[in-house]
Amino acid sequence: MNKIGIIGAMEIEVARLKEMMTDVTVTEKASMEFNEGLLNGKPVVVVRSGIGKVNAGICTQILVDVFGVDGVINTGVAGSLRSEINIGDIVVSTDAVQHDMDVTALGYTKGQIPQIDVFGFPADETMRKIAAEACRDVNPDIQVFSGRVLSGDQFVSDKELKKTLVGELDGFCTEMEGGAIAQAAYLNGIPYVILRAISDKADDSATMDYPEFEKKAAQHCVNLTQEMVKRL
Ligand code: ADE
Repeated sequence: MNKIGIIGAMEIEVARLKEMMTDVTVTEKASMEFNEGLLNGKPVVVVRSGIGKVNAGICTQILVDVFGVDGVINTGVAGSLRSEINIGDIVVSTDAVQHDMDVTALGYTKGQIPQIDVFGFPADETMRKIAAEACRDVNPDIQVFSGRVLSGDQFVSDKELKKTLVGELDGFCTEMEGGAIAQAAYLNGIPYVILRAISDKADDSATMDYPEFEKKAAQHCVNLTQEMVKRL
């Protein structure tokens, strides 16, 4: 991989990565700051996309068109959808589905985007294997899971909605950008992976847990992302 795009939705998810970079050039586009330079000696572009699928999709397309990245990592926090996945643990995406895509009225399965030939956008096998291995080395005290990431323009903090998401779409965690980054990567034919550390359980306790654990979770993802870049 020659140049890797690294997207986090929030400053807390990219700040430390930006500090670790050298030879940085900053370019503003679509109200986003693209930080191009070296991370652990590897060419990268680190950017805070802002929250939600539209920001994430725009950001990914700029990374491809303007910066010529040939792979994308999405790093950040997420709500757990499984009882065995605890706060602080990491989920590496196997694929990504947009849980708020709903054309069931016309006969499509929930989550299926009409006129697209896949249901979940598959993550790159090599990237996700490297991520899982690197995670065990840099974050030995936490669990790492490989599974489906669900994305929607919604902070999930309700146990009934959580139950529906698990039942209908079989997700491991839920967040607000990965599915759009995955779709943009798919349409452009470049590899991607989503790395998400758990900040809450996406249930009635999520609004309490999220502010408490966001920072610690984000740090786990930073550790993983920088180690992963070394190995790519
Ligand atoms: N990011 C972190 N926790 C989340 C949740 N519960 N829902 C959506 N995005 C999140």
